[in-house]
Amino acid sequence: MARVAIVTGGTRGIGRAICEALTADGLTVVANFAGNEEAARLFSEETGCRAYKWDVGDHEACLDGCERVTREIGPVEIVVNNAGITRDATLHKMTFDDWNEVMRINLGGCFNMAKACFPGMRERRWGRIVNIGSINGQAGQYGQVNYAAAKSGIHGFTKALAQEGARVGVTVNAIAPGYIDTDMVAAVPETVLEKIVAGIPVGRLGQAHEIARGVSFLVSEDAGFITGSTLSINGGQHMY
Ligand code: CAA
Repeated sequence: MARVAIVTGGTRGIGRAICEALTADGLTVVANFAGNEEAARLFSEETGCRAYKWDVGDHEACLDGCERVTREIGPVEIVVNNAGITRDATLHKMTFDDWNEVMRINLGGCFNMAKACFPGMRERRWGRIVNIGSINGQAGQYGQVNYAAAKSGIHGFTKALAQEGARVGVTVNAIAPGYIDTDMVAAVPETVLEKIVAGIPVGRLGQAHEIARGVSFLVSEDAGFITGSTLSINGGQHMY
């Protein structure tokens, strides 16, 4: 039977590309989404994958949602924590709500999904978790203390959980995308984005499928010796 994968924030952008890539790999893929019903309907129609609605920042909703997926589809063996939002503002303009929502969803979502799915992975002695971090969690970014802190937290979370998963067959890795051609990046003011793209050695924005390819590799059977790592896919914008 095909393994079951959940991709959070999976109906649009990078998440959708991940769902498509994992489906092409022969996995049974379900997407989680938070609010955009129309995008979810189109996604299911076009990919054949089911979409489940819950807020990954809500702990109980995550437990319930994953339990429902397990009941209706099968035990979750692969989790891709992709859901994320931006609330960009310089610190003096950023509200507590801007800070809290980004931490709750981007970082809290990883904890909530792991709490829901990691115990089963441990019991079955096999699992894959891939967390989508960001170049801005590695390098920081003007106007993103909330997002950079949450994404940086994801990288720490990944390395800590990887240590717990290693002996029980569960790998935990991160991908740190650079600037990818999605709605999120399209929301960056044009003049700011032009400067950012000028600083990307490859000379263009990345494409969502270029991130999905990395996820597909990290969740594959033969990636079992890779854990606690971060794969940077950023066109050379940040190297270290
Ligand atoms: N470094 C130094 N100064 C900068 C700067 C930078 N990177 N970016 C802006 N500034 C300066 C401006 O030049 C301007 O200076 P002057 O007043 O002297 O002209 C000043 O900062 C503007 O400051 P404000 O607080 O008034 O800023 P604002 O309210 O107009 O907007 C901002 C600031 C919200 C940060 C806006 O610049 C912005 O949206 N920047 C993009 C941030 C970004 O890259 N977000 C990534 C989103 S995509 C993503 O996150 C995906 C991923 O993982 C990569």
